[in-house]
Amino acid sequence: MRISVATSLSLGILVSGSGTNLQAIIDAIECKALSAMIKVVISNRVDAYGLERARQHGLPTVVISHKDFPSREAFEAELVNTLNTYGVTLVVLAGFMRLLSPFFIRSFPQRIMNIHPALLPAFPGTHAQRQALERGVRIAGATVHLVDEEVDHGPIIVQAAVPVYPDDTEETLSARILAQEHRIYPQAIQLYAAGRVVLQGNRVVILNESQSPDSALRSPAPT
Ligand code: GRF
Repeated sequence: MRISVATSLSLGILVSGSGTNLQAIIDAIECKALSAMIKVVISNRVDAYGLERARQHGLPTVVISHKDFPSREAFEAELVNTLNTYGVTLVVLAGFMRLLSPFFIRSFPQRIMNIHPALLPAFPGTHAQRQALERGVRIAGATVHLVDEEVDHGPIIVQAAVPVYPDDTEETLSARILAQEHRIYPQAIQLYAAGRVVLQGNRVVILNESQSPDSALRSPAPT
């Protein structure tokens, strides 16, 4: 199924924290590497620095605190209303730290993207980088995917891999992965905006994908 995209993709970005992925998306739009408009940035936390980043670029911001609602359903209904009010056609989860119920997911079918700091399906859930270190993997990374009703799950659009070094801490590995997140989130959204993301069952096929079959990341690197 080819995902149809209106002439200009209208993004609603959900953040809870520092918003460096939001910043990467803003920067990609401003330098015209990404053809999309950010209609609204929503946070469940009033103190999220992502809101400040949005304001600095003149983007509308809305705070919807889960604490102000009697139930998850009521909180999510307000999120859905706000996203619809702003005409959002793709919901972008960028460090949004609330689990979303099937009600929310079904409100935007194939229209929610998430980024996760691991090579899914490995290490879903919280502390993905810590999980990778504890498991002793040699290669870690990041994944952008469409969101389905399972946590950190759904058709994968883009992944990037990074080496794991013996002296890595959660912080150093997270920083290495985050640098790649900033590259692949705008890339994935641009693929979607260009109508190149095609769903085949539970897989994404990228139209006109360029291939480099001999490229590989080896870790440890050959000496
Ligand atoms: C990123 O590591 C992302 O993968 C995860 O939450 C973090 C958000 O970072 N979902 P930021 O707020 O974009 O800086």
